[in-house]
Amino acid sequence: MNVNHNPKERSNEHGNSQPVRTSGCRKNIRQISEDVWINHVSNPDVSPRYANSDAEKIKSLVTDFVCWGTGGPGEQYNGKTMLEAHRTMNISHLEFMAVIDDVMRALEKNKVGQSEQNELLGLLFSLKDQVLHL
Ligand code: HEM
Repeated sequence: MNVNHNPKERSNEHGNSQPVRTSGCRKNIRQISEDVWINHVSNPDVSPRYANSDAEKIKSLVTDFVCWGTGGPGEQYNGKTMLEAHRTMNISHLEFMAVIDDVMRALEKNKVGQSEQNELLGLLFSLKDQVLHL
């Protein structure tokens, strides 16, 4: 069980103390973004969407977005809003769930604790209306 309630240093379920919401968080989230990207481009449900994307740019923007969205002190995101980024794509429910699945697999691979997984899942679902069917 996670007994350390200091959000800057919480233990995950594997007992690893991970800095969360600090600059150390950026390194972890960058690695997770790399893995999410690998999952996306090897997932036939969504890979065609990223066929013309600049991988480095997207990984970097996703890292910034997650650091900023999970409340890292001083974090900035200078990319498009979720509405702007996904407008005219007409993303389906299936694609949305495939992306969530790719993210969750990347979190598992990086041994992210259950509470952080739930936090990110909540953030992603809160954005559903800004991504779907636009
Ligand atoms: C809550 C879920 C999602 C989040 C947080 C998210 C986040 C992002 C971010 C931060 C960007 C970069 C914005 C920019 O260019 O400034 C982006 C672009 C993009 N997203 Fe998403 N996204 C989500 C869901 C999806 C889904 C379900 C799809 C469909 C497969 C998708 C496909 C794309 C594509 C194709 C781009 C543009 C890539 C490019 O410009 O080359 N996203 N997304």
